[in-house]
Amino acid sequence: MRIISVRDAAGLSRMAADIVASLVSERPDAVLGLPTGDTPLGLYSELAKRERAGAAGFSRVMAFAVDEFYGVLQGAPGTNAAYFAARVTLGVKELHQFRSDAPDPDAECRRFAALLLSHGPLDLVILGIGANGHIAFNEPGSPFDSRTRPVKLSAVTRRAHSRAFGGIALVPRTGLTIGVADILEARRALLLASGRRKAQVLARALRGPITTDVPASALQLHPDLTVVADRAAAAMLDDPEG
Ligand code: PGA
Repeated sequence: MRIISVRDAAGLSRMAADIVASLVSERPDAVLGLPTGDTPLGLYSELAKRERAGAAGFSRVMAFAVDEFYGVLQGAPGTNAAYFAARVTLGVKELHQFRSDAPDPDAECRRFAALLLSHGPLDLVILGIGANGHIAFNEPGSPFDSRTRPVKLSAVTRRAHSRAFGGIALVPRTGLTIGVADILEARRALLLASGRRKAQVLARALRGPITTDVPASALQLHPDLTVVADRAAAAMLDDPEG
């Protein structure tokens, strides 16, 4: 595991963009797993800036959104599809997303898993970490051999998205996500963490026991994990660069 501690969220975005851009320059047809959330917003705008400047190109990149809410109209406010449409302007070749209004969530996961299998494994999976240690929508308790599937979203996760959906009651109870095993199979993993409120969970994930109680702790098993954390998020790692 490589931990890169940077000063602040802006530094995190630049460092993460360096890592993604260098992978894509080495492998222009890379297959990427992309997260949503506040943490990667700066990364997406930094990559878009480099793309506009001609310093990075994504036209052969295949992207997979790592998760989505289920049981709402496709692209409704609060969904990851809405996030990608508004915040991720990269000109990738294809962006595969779960359909949040698919008639059958299991069938939708089978469709997505088959696509992932035909293009995968992911060359790079980029992840945020939830306050409860989730990665993608793998909530606490998710088995490490889990695959793409529908999941019950935790109260913590639903609360975190309450504003985007216009109230907790409107946040879907089900998510669709790639599994922990899909994440562990990615050739490289990049975990991003920013801010004080992530310090404790990041320390549990990286320095604590490997347990399904903290799904991100599974990343300790990944052979090529890079963590980029700003100072506030890295504050509880005893030796941030270790
Ligand atoms: P955040 O979400 O980046 O908005 O903190 C992280 C996550 O839940 O994965």
